[in-house]
Amino acid sequence: MLPSNEVTLGRHSMRQYLWFWLSSPARRTDFIGGGMNSMSVHLSENRRDREAFGSEISQARRELVAGLSQKAARIAPKYFYNGLGSRLFEAICLTDEYYVTRAEAEIFATHAGAISAAAGTQPTLIDLGAGNGAKAARLFSTLRPRQYVAVDISVEFLEQAVGRLQAEYPHIPMLTVGADFSENFALPGDVETSRRLLFYPGSSIGNFTPLEAVQCLRRFRAACGDDGALLIGVDLVKASPLLEAAYDDALGITAAFNLNVLRHVNALLHSDFDVGHWRHRAHFNEDQSRIEMHLEATKTQLVTWPGGARHFVRGERIHTENSYKFTQRGFTTMLAQSGFEVTHCWTDAAQRFLVCYARAQ
Ligand code: TRP
Repeated sequence: MLPSNEVTLGRHSMRQYLWFWLSSPARRTDFIGGGMNSMSVHLSENRRDREAFGSEISQARRELVAGLSQKAARIAPKYFYNGLGSRLFEAICLTDEYYVTRAEAEIFATHAGAISAAAGTQPTLIDLGAGNGAKAARLFSTLRPRQYVAVDISVEFLEQAVGRLQAEYPHIPMLTVGADFSENFALPGDVETSRRLLFYPGSSIGNFTPLEAVQCLRRFRAACGDDGALLIGVDLVKASPLLEAAYDDALGITAAFNLNVLRHVNALLHSDFDVGHWRHRAHFNEDQSRIEMHLEATKTQLVTWPGGARHFVRGERIHTENSYKFTQRGFTTMLAQSGFEVTHCWTDAAQRFLVCYARAQ
């Protein structure tokens, strides 16, 4: 986390408040550049905005309390992505065990020509969960997008990244959008409507349950319009030791990423989780074809927050994320159910990962 993120307001980081306000669907957009290589940032501080902050935070608290109060406790994966969480996620992608990033990069490098032949040049490139924007940037030279729209839940991180990209590609008009697509999201009016290419790499769709994934893909279908398309990456089923290592690297970065969610929850909920009393667990659930990430209590403990508490016995777990693994057939069926026609699929040489191009049907 950069020093500027550490500004505190009582027990909360100011950034945490901003994160909640900004991460709301279409609450905020900043137009960046438009060929001028300049960034305009407006952090409006009027009363209505402050009230919006407040209600976002109470909604998050309600959601967190509901999850923690269930018999099988859970925390929604979107809470991974505070400033530190986004940086830890970047580091996961650099670990030896997390093959996903390299397998996908291999596909984009090997098949760049075929991908741009399928997608056509100069699309409106809409990067869903853009993170640091690096994956989309690798497509810029072949796709030559007429506009690049970076969408992410972690807005401040996104703005810094897109600011850097804009300096590198001054001729591509760029826009950042703070949105959470685990809910409905709307793209702002200044996003071009024609030839939208939604880009959803990294197997992020695998972090939804199959039902939620179809709902999410249908929202993408609605957002891309009748002349739009989707370029999407998913991880393929493989032997469980490889999968489990990818989600439990030797350096402990994925463990830190998982544990960091408790710090974020503490900041939002004023709870008193002690990170030292939890450990990271990842296992492949073959029946459901998904990696499950949990946090396991290493001792019996009471966790409290204003107005509530939860007792955890040693060994009890909090479910934090699923990462579903697909077969090509299963995934293309899911796309067809969501209103897309899959015209092309590519895999890496070792067949670890799959990228599909699907146009609106
Ligand atoms: N969606 C990717 C995956 O499931 C990336 C990801 C999300 C991830 N959360 C993660 C990777 C936690 C490692 C750990 O693989």
